[in-house]
Amino acid sequence: MQERYGRLVGWGAYVPEKVITNFDLEKTLDTSNEWIVQRTGIRERHIAAPNETTATMSVAAAKIALANAGIEPNDLDLIIVATSTPDHLTPPVSSQVQHMLGAENVPAFVVVTGCTGFIYALTTADQFIRSGAYNNILVIGVELLSRFIDWEDRATCVLFGDAAGAVVMQAGTEPSGILGFELGSDGSGACHIIAPAGGSAEPFGANTFAEGRQYIRMNGREVFKFATRVIGRSSRRVLADAGLSLDDIDWIVPHQANLRIIQAAARDMNVPLERFYVNIDRYANTSAASIPLAIYEGLESGKIQPDDRLLLASFGAGLTWATAVVQLTPSWQKNKQSKIVTVENGRVLAQL
Ligand code: UT7
Repeated sequence: MQERYGRLVGWGAYVPEKVITNFDLEKTLDTSNEWIVQRTGIRERHIAAPNETTATMSVAAAKIALANAGIEPNDLDLIIVATSTPDHLTPPVSSQVQHMLGAENVPAFVVVTGCTGFIYALTTADQFIRSGAYNNILVIGVELLSRFIDWEDRATCVLFGDAAGAVVMQAGTEPSGILGFELGSDGSGACHIIAPAGGSAEPFGANTFAEGRQYIRMNGREVFKFATRVIGRSSRRVLADAGLSLDDIDWIVPHQANLRIIQAAARDMNVPLERFYVNIDRYANTSAASIPLAIYEGLESGKIQPDDRLLLASFGAGLTWATAVVQLTPSWQKNKQSKIVTVENGRVLAQL
């Protein structure tokens, strides 16, 4: 059988309309714009409207990706949604997305690995393509974190934002898509990013809400140390396995958690910061959405070219990490119908 590759044939993203700036947060929280910018690089974040959910944001991003890929929802063979903030614990939000898209009976599942979810999902999709099982797969990275954080906890609430990103992966015979990857997990660091209550270990109980145990808590310093260790190491291994060097990479697209983490990675990898795609200032940490959102934005603005080779690097809850080298596919630009796609519930990123 001829070798099969997963071509990335259409990208999309969605961010809610409402923007909360650091100055807005100053009004209700013991924090300052100066602290947030200096410690994180974040200036503002988008927050979902009350009528929006993880599913509606996913569908908005997916519609753009499908239109850019030039395919219909019913052409899909599989939908994978990476998120840690689903509409409900059950049913899986992936089935809601499948139904709302009108992708009749298309199999769908959720990947829950925190901020690394998109790369975990993308590499999973690639395996289904390479094996010959499927030809068209929609991969979504989405997060509605604003409903899972404690808006009185300054150590977490200033860091996160809501967004969705999506890509269509399609079977092809030219080497493209994922050229190399590494997935990793170190559960000994589980306590460093955790929503203590709401699972089988600690079901919601009488004290859950009074103590705010349903919210995501984070040991920022530990995650910071982990992230700065893992990005460079994993990137070097993935590049070596793929027979590539950093000179072969057009853009490094890191998970957008903290500008200082990205700066530390740049020093560790001995590459100038300018080679890292950075948009954390405008969206904050959108977890599983951050990398596809950055790629879509980069393509739309022309900073990232449709035939670029990208190094994607992520880390997050688990603790997990996921790194991949990705070759973009220029041909999808031919199918591109319009920059502006009508979606329900607010505006589309391409219109911004
Ligand atoms: O997506 C993956 C998950 N998340 C991450 O990757 C986040 C990784 N960690 C980080 O980005 C950083 O550790 C943070 C931004 C979370 C914190 O930065 P830091 O430089 O590690 O600060 P810190 O936690 O050591 O706190 C320094 C001080 C503390 O005060 P004291 O104890 O020195 O008096 C905090 O209470 O800053 C205080 N602080 C704040 N001050 C103003 C913490 N949050 C805030 C705040 N505004 N929002």
